[in-house]
Amino acid sequence: MPNVVVVGTQWGDEGKGKVVDLLSDSADYIVRFQGGNNAGHTLVVAGETFILHLIPSGILHPNKTCCIGNGVVVDPAVLLGEIKNLRSHQVPVGPDNLVISGQAHVIMTYHREVDHARERRKGKGKIGTTGRGIGPCYEDKASRAGIRIHDLINPNSFTGKLKENLAEKNFYLEKFFGGQPLNYDSIAEEYLAYGEQLRPYVANVSELLDNARRQGKSILFEGAQGTHLDIDHGTYPFVTSSNAVAGGACCGSGIGPGHIDTVIGICKAYTTRVGSGPFPTELTDAVGEHLQKEGSEFGSTTGRPRRCGWLDMVVLKNAARLNGLTSLAITKLDVLTGLDRVRIATSYVQEASSLGIFPTECFILERCQPSYVDFPGWSEDISGIRTFSDLPQKTQRYLRAIEEMAEIPLSIVSVGAGREQTIVLRNPFEDISLPSTF
Ligand code: GDP
Ligand code: IMO
Ligand code: MG
Repeated sequence: MPNVVVVGTQWGDEGKGKVVDLLSDSADYIVRFQGGNNAGHTLVVAGETFILHLIPSGILHPNKTCCIGNGVVVDPAVLLGEIKNLRSHQVPVGPDNLVISGQAHVIMTYHREVDHARERRKGKGKIGTTGRGIGPCYEDKASRAGIRIHDLINPNSFTGKLKENLAEKNFYLEKFFGGQPLNYDSIAEEYLAYGEQLRPYVANVSELLDNARRQGKSILFEGAQGTHLDIDHGTYPFVTSSNAVAGGACCGSGIGPGHIDTVIGICKAYTTRVGSGPFPTELTDAVGEHLQKEGSEFGSTTGRPRRCGWLDMVVLKNAARLNGLTSLAITKLDVLTGLDRVRIATSYVQEASSLGIFPTECFILERCQPSYVDFPGWSEDISGIRTFSDLPQKTQRYLRAIEEMAEIPLSIVSVGAGREQTIVLRNPFEDISLPSTF
């Protein structure tokens, strides 16, 4: 059975949660492989809304195993809160359907403090992080000072590492930021209690997935953030601190690249971005307001308004290359309904020359002006449509144009937030022979 990776192609919030929930029906294992509770993945099922930050979006389906891979940074309080919240909505969550890698890193109190202190200090030049301690936690991972879930459930190891880390963090918080030191005893007590509660969930996720694969089970990898927030390939430094591209699925879960069969890129029918950083097709006019209002574009994690703009083909093609996309899911198509014309940026103009490729230098991207191709809009309500051929001709034309320009076949079109508001052109789990080039 095929193994499928789902990634965001833009700057996050493309509707990955909705698509992963939908595809979970065909999968046995659903795996988060990077990021942390900076993510907010929304599922709307039978009129009920669930926002997941750490638990994979397959959790609503019975008889599935959800895994948090080694590449994820875990805030234990958030994870335990999410488990509790799901249970209170009659969604069973326990060690039989949720597994956490012992190698995943733990977000500590000081990571959040440093995240906030840095953003405050940067003032206008801030990244606009979610303030969840993501960057500082990955920093400790890279510098080999990090505390892993293995340590969290082993009091001797945990207390030793906490003592060592806290001495350094308190020095930094007090002397550099002029803040207050954090108290060792209260952090130790709080986190050791989390460790006790999480102990039954901890396993070797890489081995679990390998056994599953050998038994012919299907694995669905759920990306968080988006390609252009990737630490290496995104609009650095206005990015997150992990690899959000499809390659991250392998490093962040312990599966080899040879076992990935297809990669689905999730792409909003327009573009949004939360936080700072360049955004060539951003709209600050009435159309931007339309997208914001009709798309309810407020962050699922922080509630911040999302910046909105037209679909950007330079961005999408960049994502196609970086992820090796084999199909596309276009989401939030219904939000474009009612606009007289819809536009797609096909290239950029920078200092009188045309750029067809996404620049790797942020300062060049900041100076790029998009060149657009226009399409006639449509006014029909498409949110109840379930087959491609029932879509208005003008809507079909827009979708076919995306497919042709991106040179990637469409597999899914989403016309509403609800699980059922979806047009499936091809099920990626039944179609492993998708062409790698259009
Ligand atoms: P994610 O982070 O990629 O999982 O996306 P988010 O959940 O943060 O943001 C996507 C938002 O759009 C959520 O509120 C979804 O419920 C909603 N959504 C997803 N697909 C559609 C769609 O096709 N139409 C509309 N109107 N809303 C959608
Ligand atoms: P999902 O998975 C949209 C953005 C933040 C900020 C930058 C760095 O829901 O698509 P961080 O807290 O990660 O250090 O912030 O990345 N960001 C997201 N934007 N969706 C997300 O996740 C995001 N996760 C982080 O707004 O600009
Ligand atoms: Mg989101």
